[in-house]
Parts: sequence; C-alpha cells; structure tokens
Amino acid sequence: MNMDSLNWGDLTPEKFLAEYWQKKPLIIKQAFTNFQDPIPADELAGLAMESEIESRIVSVDSEGNWQVDHGPFEDFSQYGESQWTLLVQAVNNWSRPTHELLSPFAFIPSWRIDDVMVSFSTPDGGVGAHLDQYDVFIIQGSGKRRWQVGAPDKSLSTLLPHPDLKQVSSFQPIIDEITEVGDLLYIPPNHPHNGVSIENSVNFSIGFQAPSSQDLWSSFADKLIDLNIGEERFSDPDRTQCQQNFTITAHDKKQLKSFMLAQLDNDELYEQFIGQYLTQGHHALEILVPVNDIDNAKLLDILSEPDILFMPVSGLKAAIVNDTKATLFINGDSFPLEDQTLALAEKLAQQNPLTTSEIKKLNNCLKNTELLTSVLNKGYWYIE
Ligand code: SIN
Ligand code: CO
Repeated sequence: MNMDSLNWGDLTPEKFLAEYWQKKPLIIKQAFTNFQDPIPADELAGLAMESEIESRIVSVDSEGNWQVDHGPFEDFSQYGESQWTLLVQAVNNWSRPTHELLSPFAFIPSWRIDDVMVSFSTPDGGVGAHLDQYDVFIIQGSGKRRWQVGAPDKSLSTLLPHPDLKQVSSFQPIIDEITEVGDLLYIPPNHPHNGVSIENSVNFSIGFQAPSSQDLWSSFADKLIDLNIGEERFSDPDRTQCQQNFTITAHDKKQLKSFMLAQLDNDELYEQFIGQYLTQGHHALEILVPVNDIDNAKLLDILSEPDILFMPVSGLKAAIVNDTKATLFINGDSFPLEDQTLALAEKLAQQNPLTTSEIKKLNNCLKNTELLTSVLNKGYWYIE
C-alpha cells in the first residue's frame, strides 16, 4: 500500500485547510485504498504490556457502568468479547509502519502533530461521547465503527461516569456514519464525538499538538530562569512627581508590561525557546544511546561500508528554525547550524532513512561529521 496517497476526492489539502481545518468535521470514505493495519492487534496488546507506554482500557457493562484501567496490562482475558476498548498512546514511537501513517499529512508542519494513538475495540466498545481540545484525524483500520460527530454546543453538560473518564451529554450529530477500512474522519477541537465499535475494529488517531497559553508562558519563564537572563531590574530614570502615591498609573503599568515583553521580543531567545518547546516529545521514545561514543574516525569507518542505513528513532520530533540564527532542534535539544551544515540538517529534520552514499555526499566537512556523530551519540539516529 502506498501510504502517501490520500484520495481527497473533490478536495485538495489546500481546500481542506480553507474549508474544514479547525472549522468543521469531515468524513472521506475510502481515503486510503487497500488500507492494511500497520500494526497487528496482538502487537498492540504487547505494547500495552510495557510500563513506559501509556495505555488504558475503557469498558462499560450492560448497566452502563464505566470502568477505566491503566496499563501496563498482563493479560486481557478478564475483559471478555465485547464492550471494551484498548487505547495505546504514541504507537508511532514504537512502530515505524504506524509512524508512516503521518506521511499523507505532511501538508501540516510536523511540529503541529503530537502522536498516533491506536485503539482496538470489541463490539459495542468505545469511550463514550466526549470532546477533545485538539484536532484529530481518525483512520479506520480493520473492522467497522459507528462514528457520530456534532458541532460545538455550549448547552452540552460534562459527565464524569468514572474519575478518569470525561464525557458529554448526548448531542445532535452532523456526521453519523459507519466507518470502514480506509475511511478517514477529521474532527476539529471541541466538536463532540462518539465512536462505537460494530465488530472488533482498530482506529488510528492522529492527534495534534496545540499548546495552551499558560503552558507556553510557564515554559518560557522556566527558560529565562534556566538561562538566568531575567535578572535585570525594572528602572524608571524619567520618573516625575506622582499625584496619588497609592495608584499604579496606566503609564507605570505600560512600562512594566514593556519591560516583560522585551524578553519575548528577543528573537534569538524566542527561537531557541520555541524550537526546544515544540520538538520536546510528550511520550517515551525508543532511544538507544551507543555504549561507546562514535568519534569521527569511527564514523568514517562505518561510512566505508556500502549498504548501511542511518535511521531516525521512530516518532522523534525535529524541526529547523532559520530566521535569526539557523538551528536544528531534535527532541528539545538544539544544534546550531552554519551554511555548510544546513543541507545535512534538513535531511535529519525530514527524518527519512539515509543510505551511506547519501550520508557520504553530505559529509563533506568536519562540521557535518560532528553533527552526525552528535545525533548518533545522543541516540536520536542509529545505524541499522
Ligand atoms: C477511539 O479511538 O476510540 C477514540 C478516539 C477519539 O475519540 O479521539
Ligand atoms: Co476523541
């Protein structure tokens, strides 16, 4: 199957962004022809047995009592044949074929994507009607589900049928469809939705990263503290006599605000902060740091062998910022770039496997050799 080809029908990525993205839900039947699950259900169950992988099982009994159990799981036999769903977060960090599901969505920058969550549901299984605060694309893998999606509605009430399960009251669907293998559903933030499995079925949910303003502010403050660059004190050499000493005047307020905002206006600092913040993964990665550091001589040795592949860790987040100062960011680490290293950095940020001959072409100066050894020694890339 060619994962790159999404059958948009009458739409194009451009039209999708203009008409649907963050605006209204969409279903595309047969968006992927000949779709095959990139991970079999037993392998998914295996991931849910690992302690560093976030997983949960949501089940409901015939009286409508909801239960949430958190992984790691040892066995699944107690859940029976129906009315439960296993959800595993960031499966793309452990399964490269699952990570490849992201390639048709490259019309949206990779920093905006959080993870691929995979759910396996038995008949009548689901997590109930709920809202998410981020966009999601759901690819229907094997099996069938009934998906209902509504418009944002302030009159819906929040339900908490279990302390770990937030749902909403029933809503008027604007999409009500049975999804079959290869169908694609797009749900914007805060649109109520509910998926109920018809038979054993697998869904792949591409979730987006949308930082909250409070997260951004607090991480930015952490950055200032880490770098110890917010120590300069407020000053007011132009002060004139005040009229009411108990008032904070509009002028003083403005001066203090500009004093704070000056930090955000420091472009170099902001680029460093935002690059690190947006490439910092939220889920564990399969990073294997080499036992012995790879030095320049060792790298040249490796490159003398013809058929070696350089691979990025699956699910790694990387990006380049090239405005004030060119920098490559990988997993929250920054690698300063120069003109000679930009081409290699672009390949590293694109994260396609690289052959020795491709690497050799890019490895044309000491700076590139150093960039390569740094990403290898961090365990972000490895030699297959
Ligand atoms: C699911 O796959 O069952 C839940 C996905 C979602 O509602 O975001
Ligand atoms: Co959801």
